[in-house]
Amino acid sequence: MKINVKIGTVEKEAAEILVFYLYEDMRIMSEALAHCNKALHNSISELIKKKEFSAKLNKTMVLPTYGKIPAKRVLLVGLGKKKEVTLDKIRQAAGITTSTVRDMGISEGTTVTDSLDIFIPPSEWCQAYVEGALLSLYKYQRYKYISPEERHELKMLTLLVSRKDTLTTIHDAVKYGKIVADAVCFTRDLINTPSRDKTPAILADHAVKMAKELDIHYKVMSSPELKKLGMGGLLGVAQGSAQSPKFIILEYNARTKGQDTIVFVGKGITFDSGGICLKQAKDMDQMKSDMSGAAAVMGAMMAVSKMKVPQHIIGLIPCTENMPGGSAMKPGDVITFHSGKTAEVTNTDAEGRLILADALAYAGSYHPQAVIDLATLTGSCVVALGTVVTGMMGNNEELKKRVRIAGERSWERVWELPLWEEYQEQIKSDIADIKNVGGPYGGAITAACFLSKFAEKYPWVHLDIAGTAWCEKNGAYTQKGASGVGVRLLVQLVRNWTRFPRKTSL
Ligand code: BES
Ligand code: MN
Ligand code: ZN
Repeated sequence: MKINVKIGTVEKEAAEILVFYLYEDMRIMSEALAHCNKALHNSISELIKKKEFSAKLNKTMVLPTYGKIPAKRVLLVGLGKKKEVTLDKIRQAAGITTSTVRDMGISEGTTVTDSLDIFIPPSEWCQAYVEGALLSLYKYQRYKYISPEERHELKMLTLLVSRKDTLTTIHDAVKYGKIVADAVCFTRDLINTPSRDKTPAILADHAVKMAKELDIHYKVMSSPELKKLGMGGLLGVAQGSAQSPKFIILEYNARTKGQDTIVFVGKGITFDSGGICLKQAKDMDQMKSDMSGAAAVMGAMMAVSKMKVPQHIIGLIPCTENMPGGSAMKPGDVITFHSGKTAEVTNTDAEGRLILADALAYAGSYHPQAVIDLATLTGSCVVALGTVVTGMMGNNEELKKRVRIAGERSWERVWELPLWEEYQEQIKSDIADIKNVGGPYGGAITAACFLSKFAEKYPWVHLDIAGTAWCEKNGAYTQKGASGVGVRLLVQLVRNWTRFPRKTSL
């Protein structure tokens, strides 16, 4: 869908459908809506008075205009109570708007932006609006035949703006919103793709193609190089698979000086069968999404490079399948990581931490100011926090604070779980430095304890997205399947970035 910004007024706009936003507790109508209401013989105010249209969040109503104004139809969209409006409600209402218009079979819509009438600055509401409008149109249809009758497409959304002085801000916000939404859709596509069509080698091809287009430095390492680097975690997990592992490195602003270096690390298990500790069949198909962290890192790299942010940003993506097989790693095996540390693998299904350990150790070589890893790491995190919020653990208060704030602003919120010393007990091994699984309780935390052993040299935050990466049902701007979580959060984090204080309490 194209997004067009236009100065104009309702009186003259010959739109297919004019979209107005209304608040539940609105006392007076915006000028534009009042004009429409009058032309339509007060039918809008009547609907409100009779409570036929409540303006509750995401409620909609369509009215024909019978030629009384130049626009053919009017769409009313509720935003709830005015005092309670947030950026995410704007994102949702925008999502409801575009999917509603599309499903009516209309190919162009026009939003009367004045009707939003909010105290949030235009740079913010407009970006959120564009994100919601685009994200709600996302569909994963690579393998599905759609008949021409079903193939509705909303081709253009016009933002009708009344004031010239906000125009540049609005144009910029549209640009940023589009970059973010495109990156999220790219991430969703990768996650929704079946494993057979996104082997580590194919994921690496996607990363390389993107890097070339966006002038990002890249490197893809395969088994021989991984052996040289002693990446026993990634190689160990890959042992049981017919697909060879890849370690993808993306580096944006590689030559910049005097800027902070931020590393994103993403878990790239392109299918998690559990390995020899095989998972049960129920919902195992969903384990194609075990590379959601990797996909989010790729999407975030795409967005920050298009935005030309000043920081030096690196994406590290260890990729492999976790499969059982004659040469697979066995419970009880001991592996050695890139850092030299050893781990006893008591459960081959706790594989994410093994590939992340190598990547986190490798991240140290960049002497980064901050490292953030994203991983669909534990079912335990889903038990603890559900599917609304991402679990956060880390070793640095300042970085955790920044991630928390970025989460609030992007509405990809995080909630901290404690990473206290007492939990470290659980991953002590009799025969190796550590083991990969703790006891039956606090699994999200003991997984993070494991990771923390490889992230001792820099400020680090771990995000467990096991509950947030996948949607069970459709939302206002999400669909059943991949959510693309992490992209908006990372982009927000970088856009708000200021030089990281050298000495912070670890
Ligand atoms: N990829 C899974 C975690 C997961 C579960 C993600 C459900 C999304 C939805 C991970 O590799 C895993 O299998 N974790 C195990 C760890 C256990 C063996 C200690 C788990 O959480 O059960
Ligand atoms: Mn697993
Ligand atoms: Zn996994």
